[in-house]
Amino acid sequence: MEKIVSLCKRRGFVFPGSEIYGGLAGTYDYGPYGVVLKENVENLWLQMFRDDRDDMYGVDAAILMNPKVWEASGHVQTFADQLADGKMFNTMFKTSVGAGEESSTVYMRPETAGGMFVNFKNIADSMHPKLPFGIAQIGKAFRNEIAPRDFIFRLRELSQMEVEYFVKSSDWEQAFEEWRKMMHLFATAIGLPQDMVHELEVPDGERAHYSKRTIDFEFDYPFGRKELWGLAYRTDFDLSAHAGASGVELSYIDEEKKEKYIPHVIEPSLGVDRTILAILVSAYREDDMGGETRSYLALAPRIAPVKAAVFPLLKNKPELVAKAREIYSSLKSQVSGIQFDDNGNIGKRYRRQDEIGTPFCITIDFDTLGETPNLKDTVTLRHRDTGEQERLTVAEVSSRILSATQ
Ligand code: GAP
Repeated sequence: MEKIVSLCKRRGFVFPGSEIYGGLAGTYDYGPYGVVLKENVENLWLQMFRDDRDDMYGVDAAILMNPKVWEASGHVQTFADQLADGKMFNTMFKTSVGAGEESSTVYMRPETAGGMFVNFKNIADSMHPKLPFGIAQIGKAFRNEIAPRDFIFRLRELSQMEVEYFVKSSDWEQAFEEWRKMMHLFATAIGLPQDMVHELEVPDGERAHYSKRTIDFEFDYPFGRKELWGLAYRTDFDLSAHAGASGVELSYIDEEKKEKYIPHVIEPSLGVDRTILAILVSAYREDDMGGETRSYLALAPRIAPVKAAVFPLLKNKPELVAKAREIYSSLKSQVSGIQFDDNGNIGKRYRRQDEIGTPFCITIDFDTLGETPNLKDTVTLRHRDTGEQERLTVAEVSSRILSATQ
C-alpha cells in the first residue's frame, strides 16, 4: 500500500485532500492521471450498465434532498455506526439550507440510490418504459465514517456507480443473476484478476435494513479481503416507503395485462474509489529491466489514462521533434489519451510512462526521417509489460492502439 500511495502522489493520480493544511481525514483529491483513470472507469461502466442496454435510463439527481427522503428510506433511524462507548452515531452529514430562522436541516445523500427512487415516477411518466427497466447514476455520496482509513478505501466523500433495476416481484431472482454476471464482466473489463474477486453471501442480520438478499463482491486488498461492491435485492421497500411517506403513487401499470403493482428492486452498487484502488493494487508490478528494478502499472489499455506516448529520440534535433510532433498530432486526432514527451533521456521517459501504466511508447528516430531508406516513416513501438520493441509504420501503430484500447 505504501508504494501505491507514494506512486499516486508522485505521479499525479491521487493526493490527500486539503494537503497544504494538513489534510482532512477521509477526503482525497484525484490528480491529472487519476481523473482520467476515473473517467475511463466511469465511462466503461456507463457503457456496460446503461448505454449498451435498451432498458436503462440515466439521471443526475441533486445531492441535497428533502430530508423526508431519508426519513422514509430508514436512513435517519438506522444509518448508524457504533462508537467506542457503545452509543450509536448516525453517519449522515447534516448541513442547512436557507438563511437565519428560515433555515432547515438537510442531509448530504449517503447513497446515490435515493435520487433514483424519487425519480421513478418521472422516468415512468416521461419515458414510458416497460418493466423491467432501470435507472443508472454516477455521483458523490457522503458518510461521516467514524474511522476513515486505507487510502481511498474508506472515505467520507466518495463516488458511487449505482443501478436501481425495477422488476415484477416474481422476476427478482432472474434479474439478480443477470446483474451478478454483469458485475463479474465489468470486473474483467477493468482488468481485475478473477482470483482476487470473491462473492460473499451476506447472512441474515448483517444486511442493510432494506435488503432481503445481498452479495458482497470482495477484493483481496493488501490490508485484507474487503468489500469492493454490493448487489442487493431491496424488494419493494423503498418505493413502498416513499409512496407511503409522500402520498404519491409509485406503482407500475401494465396496460396489456391490466395489472398495477409496486415494482421490486435489484441494486448493483459499485464504489468508484474502491474500484480505482482495486485496479491500482492489482496492476502494480515490479520487475528487473536492464539491470534495474522498475515499477509499472499493468493497466488494461482501455482504462489507462495515457494510451500512448510519442517521443522524439533526441530533444535537441529539430527535425526529429518536428516529425514527432506531426505523428503526435495525427495520432491524437484518432485516439484520445496520446501524450508528447521529450523530457529527459529515453530510459527516463519509459520509466515515467511505465509508472503511469501507458501501454505503448512510440519513438521517432533518424530512420523515421529516412536515414535507412526502407525504414522511412516507420517508428518503434515499445510494449509496457515486456519492454519489447517492434518497427512499424505509423498507420500500423495507430490501428494497434485503436484495437487495444477499444
Ligand atoms: N445503495 C447501496 C449502498 O450504498 P453500500 O454497501 O453502503 O450500499 C455501496 O455501499 C458501495 O459503495 C460499497 O460496496 C463501496 O464500494 C462503496 N462505499 C461505501 N462506503 C464507502 C466509503 N466510506 N468509502 C468508499 N467507498 C464506499
